[in-house]
Amino acid sequence: MTPSEEIKYLRDELNRHNRLYYVEAMPEISDMEYDMMLKRLEALEKEHPELDDPLSPTHRVGSDINKSFTQVSHERPMLSLANTYNIEEVDDWAARCNDALGTVTDGGFHTVVGEMKFDGTSISLIYKNGRLVRAVTRGDGEKGDDVTANVMTIKSIPLELKGDDVPADLEMRGEIVLPWKAFDRLNEQRAFNEEPLFANPRNAAAGTLKLQNSAEVARRGLDAYIYYMLGDNLPADNHYDNMMVARSWGFKVSDAMKRLHSLKEVDDYINYWDTARKELPVATDGLVFKINSLKEQLNLGSTAKSPRWAIAYKFKAERALTRLRFVSFEVGRMGIITPVANLEPVLLSGTIVKRASLHNEDIVRTLDIHEHDMLYVEKGGEIIPKITGVDKSAREPGAAPVEFVKVCPDCGTPLERVPGEASWLCPNRYGCPEQIIGRIRHFVGRHAMDIDGVGEEISATLFATGLVRNIADFYDLTVERLMQVAELGPRTAERIMEGVEKSREVTFDRVVYSLSIPFCGETVSRKLARSVGDIDRLMGMSEAELTAIEDVGPRIAAAVVEFFSLDINRDIIARLRAAGVQMAMPESDDEPGSDELAGKIIVISGVFAHHSRDEYKAMIERMGGKNSGSISKKTSFVLAGENMGPAKLEKATALGVPVINEDEFLKMIGKE
Ligand code: IVH
Repeated sequence: MTPSEEIKYLRDELNRHNRLYYVEAMPEISDMEYDMMLKRLEALEKEHPELDDPLSPTHRVGSDINKSFTQVSHERPMLSLANTYNIEEVDDWAARCNDALGTVTDGGFHTVVGEMKFDGTSISLIYKNGRLVRAVTRGDGEKGDDVTANVMTIKSIPLELKGDDVPADLEMRGEIVLPWKAFDRLNEQRAFNEEPLFANPRNAAAGTLKLQNSAEVARRGLDAYIYYMLGDNLPADNHYDNMMVARSWGFKVSDAMKRLHSLKEVDDYINYWDTARKELPVATDGLVFKINSLKEQLNLGSTAKSPRWAIAYKFKAERALTRLRFVSFEVGRMGIITPVANLEPVLLSGTIVKRASLHNEDIVRTLDIHEHDMLYVEKGGEIIPKITGVDKSAREPGAAPVEFVKVCPDCGTPLERVPGEASWLCPNRYGCPEQIIGRIRHFVGRHAMDIDGVGEEISATLFATGLVRNIADFYDLTVERLMQVAELGPRTAERIMEGVEKSREVTFDRVVYSLSIPFCGETVSRKLARSVGDIDRLMGMSEAELTAIEDVGPRIAAAVVEFFSLDINRDIIARLRAAGVQMAMPESDDEPGSDELAGKIIVISGVFAHHSRDEYKAMIERMGGKNSGSISKKTSFVLAGENMGPAKLEKATALGVPVINEDEFLKMIGKE
C-alpha cells in the first residue's frame, strides 16, 4: 500500500469503527486496537502533511485554540414546536391534521411518526457533497453560532456521508445531548472543584457546545441524535424513510422512532414511553409527533413559530413529598457554606433521595422552609433533586423557620456575606479544619496531584493526627510515620508514598490547580499555567497583567494576587519547590509568552512540515500576535505552508501582503 492508500484505508476503517461504537453501540475491535490505528494514522499524516484532510478522524480530538463564534444565518429558519402536557390535546392535534388533509390515506389515518423529544440543544448540520461543512446552533431561529469545530469532536456525527443517494446539498437537524453518564461524571468533577453544577444535561450540553476549547468539548462526551432532514432531492417522500436512510449514512437515529397508524397507536406510544424513557441513556423531556408524509407537511405548513405538522407532548416532572429531618450547613474548601436539606428517604425516578442542596440563604428564605416541613422534591430533567416547594398545610404548629447559621458550623468563626452574591463564607480560610481537609482532598484528587491511596477519610485522618496540616506536608511523610502516627497499614502507607513520589512529575498546570486558589478551577488553572509559564512569573503578576490573559476576569485576578501575597501560601510554594514539585511548564511544550509578534495579524494557510497549524496558531498567540482567517490590508503577513490556496496567494499579492514560508517564520521567531 502507498502511504496515500494506507491513509485512506485507516480513515475509512476508523470512521467505520467510530460508527460501530458511537452510533450502533456494537464495537468490533478493542479500544486499544482503535487507538493503535489512530496513532498510525496520526503518524502517517504527520509524515505526509500534503495528504491532510480537515475531516480526518484524527481531527476529532479538538484543539486548544480559543476562538469566539461567528454568527451565521440559517438557510431555513429553525422553528420550535407547539407543546402540550396532555394526551387529549395530542389526539386533537392529530384529528385537526386529518381534517385539514382531507382525503384519507392509510386506512383512515394520516400516518404519524412518534419519536423522543431529546432534552439537549438543537443543531443544524450542513453537508455539501456529503462532507460536513458547517454546524450551527439554533440561536434565535434565524441565525445561530457557528460551532463546527466543537461539533466535529462528536463522534456520532459523521463527517463524511457514505452512500449513492446523498443529496449534494443537505441539512440535517438534530439534538446534541450529554448522556446521563457523562453528565454525572462532569458534575462530580465540578462538585469536587467547587464549580457551579449544571442543573440538567440540557444546560450542560448547551454550555459544552459553546466552550472555547474544543479539546475540552471532546473530553466531555457529547452525543447527537438526528430527527429531521431538509434539502432538495431527498431520498424519500416521507420523514420516517428519510430517517432510516440517514441511519444508513451513519447518523444516529433513535430506535424509539415509530410509525403510528391510529389514535390508539398514538396513545399507546405515549403510555409506553411515559415510563420506558427512564431507561434511556439520555435525558428526554417528552415525545414529538410528526405527520409522516413530506407533501402533507408542506400542505399543513407552519405558523411564524412552529410547524402545524408536528406537536410536542411533554412529560410531567416527577415529584415526591417527604419530611425535612434537618438542614445541615456544609463548609466547602473555599469556605462557602451550603445549606442541605436532609430528608426522610423517598423514592423518586428510580433513586432514593435523602439529601437535596438548598444552595444558599435566598433559596431557603424564598421557599420559606420551617423545621420538619413536608417538602416537594422534583427530579424532572434534573438529575440533582431539587426542593420546589413546601406543603404548608402539613406544617406542625409552632414550627420555627429554618435560620441560616451565623457562625461557621466547623470552627465557629462569624460568617461573612460574599459581596454581590447570595452566599455566606467562613473567612477563617487557613484555620478552619473543614476547609483545610477539603483542600487536602482536592490536592490528592485525580485531576490535581493524583496521590493514590488517600481518600476522603484518610485525608481527614492525616489532618487530625497532625501529619498533614497543609499540602506541603505530604512531602515530609514517611511510611513509618504514616504507620505509627496515622495507624495505617503498611500497604496503604506504601501506596501513599508511591503516590507522593509520582506527584513530583505532575505537570505545572495541574500543580496550579491543586493549590486551591479561589475561583481557579481546572480550566482557569491550565490557562494561567500555560500562558504564564512558571510560578515565579505567576507570583509576581499584577491584577492588570493577569486580566490581560484570556478568560481571566477581575475577580480571578484579585484572588490570584491575594493568594500569592500571603506568607502561608508563599511558604507552601517554597516547600513544594524544594520537594521537587514541577514549578514551570516543560520547555518544549508550552513556553512562556513573549511579545515578539505583538501587534501582528497573521493568516495561516496550507499544511506544514515541522508543526501543526494548531501549534503555529498557539505560538503566534503566545508571542502576542493575532490569528486571522482572511487576508486584508491589515494582515501583517501570511504564513504559507504547502498547498496554500491560489485564491489566497493572489489576494496577498494584490494587497502587497508578504507571504513567508515555514522556515522563514521559524527563523523570524528564533526557532531555527
Ligand atoms: S423537530 C420544525 N424532533 O425540541 C421541527 N425537535 O421545542 C423542529 N427536539 O428546537 C423540531 N427532540 O431542539 C424535533 N425528535 C425531535 C426533537 C426535537 C428534541 C427539540 C429541538 C427543538 C425543540 C422544539
